[in-house]
Amino acid sequence: MSSQDGEHRWWHGAVLYQLYVRSWLDTDGDGYGDLGGVIARLDYLSWLGVDGIWLSPTMPSPDDDWGYDVSDYLGVHPDLGTMDDMDALIAQAGQRGMRVLLDLVPNHTSSAHPWFIDAAGSRDSALRDFYVWAGPGPDGGPPNNWLDATGAPAWAWHEPTGQYYLHNFLPSQPDLNWWEPRVHSEFAEILRFWLDRGVAGVRIDVAHGLYKDAQLRDNPPEAGDAPMAGRFGLQSVYNANRPQTHGVYRDWRRIADSYPAAYPGARLLLGETWVADPDRLAGFYGDDDELQLAFNFPFVFAALTAPGLSGVVAETLARLPAGACPVWTASNHDVGRFPSRWCGGDERKTRLALLVLATLPGTTVLYYGDEIGMTDVRVPPELQQDKMSRGGGNGWEGNRDRARTPMQWDSSPAGGFTAEQVTPWLPAGDTAAVNVAGQREDPGSVLRFCRDLISLRHAEFDGQIGSYQVLPAPPGAWAYQVGRLTVLANFSGRPVPCHDPGGPVLLSSTGAALPAGPDIVLAPWQAVIARSADAGG
Ligand code: GLC
Repeated sequence: MSSQDGEHRWWHGAVLYQLYVRSWLDTDGDGYGDLGGVIARLDYLSWLGVDGIWLSPTMPSPDDDWGYDVSDYLGVHPDLGTMDDMDALIAQAGQRGMRVLLDLVPNHTSSAHPWFIDAAGSRDSALRDFYVWAGPGPDGGPPNNWLDATGAPAWAWHEPTGQYYLHNFLPSQPDLNWWEPRVHSEFAEILRFWLDRGVAGVRIDVAHGLYKDAQLRDNPPEAGDAPMAGRFGLQSVYNANRPQTHGVYRDWRRIADSYPAAYPGARLLLGETWVADPDRLAGFYGDDDELQLAFNFPFVFAALTAPGLSGVVAETLARLPAGACPVWTASNHDVGRFPSRWCGGDERKTRLALLVLATLPGTTVLYYGDEIGMTDVRVPPELQQDKMSRGGGNGWEGNRDRARTPMQWDSSPAGGFTAEQVTPWLPAGDTAAVNVAGQREDPGSVLRFCRDLISLRHAEFDGQIGSYQVLPAPPGAWAYQVGRLTVLANFSGRPVPCHDPGGPVLLSSTGAALPAGPDIVLAPWQAVIARSADAGG
């Protein structure tokens, strides 16, 4: 790859940052974060060193699913700000060399979207076919066995027009019908509208969804209990994951590629590709003519062990097409925070995981708060906001609110997220123990370590995906070479001797110096980055 390509594909070797706008910083005193809050903390993000931010949904919405139920794709949610704020945010991020990605939700709309209001008017409505309608099944109930994200039937009976409509998520999130050509033209326009405004790309919600089986066949039963094998006893074969969806991304890629390479540069399509099979994942890259990045959920759900993570990495790299850029993330607003899921709040493990994330080839996506080791927060039932998982039967740990709580800026009760007299929309976590202000001053903090990792990543990757090669390591450890670096990581609670990487250690997750010698001994849960022997000092 030439350096010009590296500049063009600015996400190669980059660190993106998912920012849940509602929980970032409240500048207008309503208890919700807003775009003004994002602008106010751009300097922080620039200090941290991220290359781009992905904003969780910003479009007008009744908020049954906090913005994932869109009622206007061309607007800004009034709780979050105005279009002027969005323009200012894009411009001011750009002045700091940071790109802005928006969250685009093409699988479904809100039932309050004018398209659905028209479609639900009558069976003859002009936009009826924008959605998926069907009559009752043979038993007089729903048309087939599809279930929504809560485990209930995915079909809502629409009394006024005597048909069911499909909702893979909440009943107020009717699925769009991608067999309808006008849906394609609408979304092509929506995409252009935002890219024209200087947005550097989009994260595509439910990217594996879009098309549904034309014959509405029943989903087959789940096979095995591996993570992601199925949900509620069924595999998602016919209500999502249809091959026709790839055609949509080929179209969108042509649109993205029609923009000039000058800043903000090539436009990025990043898919929420919720698939377990690495070949399926690879399929979303197409022949470098579909998505440029496809999120890797098997990595998210892998165990925090050497074989667990290294196995997913090896398999992913083996299956992706040549030249495709892998993307690694460990936390998000649905799956929770890795310092809890992987690390149980053990800071040694959090530092190790950050070091791994920062040294894998491709693109790394951090979730707001990862950089200070924020953990999931116990949100009591009476304060829960997420309708999809509220009372989901798993207690607070199964509720997505746990990872959507206010960013912890300082040690005050609301963490500096909002004014003292305002109640934040979700309660803050342990702000006294974990906050940006305290960690920024402390050279030994997780935050300063994370910043050092990002800076090392930039220096080493320099706009390249980075080559990866696994190295021999004793049981419990994972060793790999990436570019000119050697990474040694001890995923165990006992000391582990590793081969000397040959060059100096550049960063250690424990901050402690390592004794020199032909073999080095990693402390429990310690990881280091060293210069490789053949790479010079
Ligand atoms: C995606 C989003 C999730 C949302 C769902 C429906 O999985 O990440 O938050 O509830 O899609 O839009």
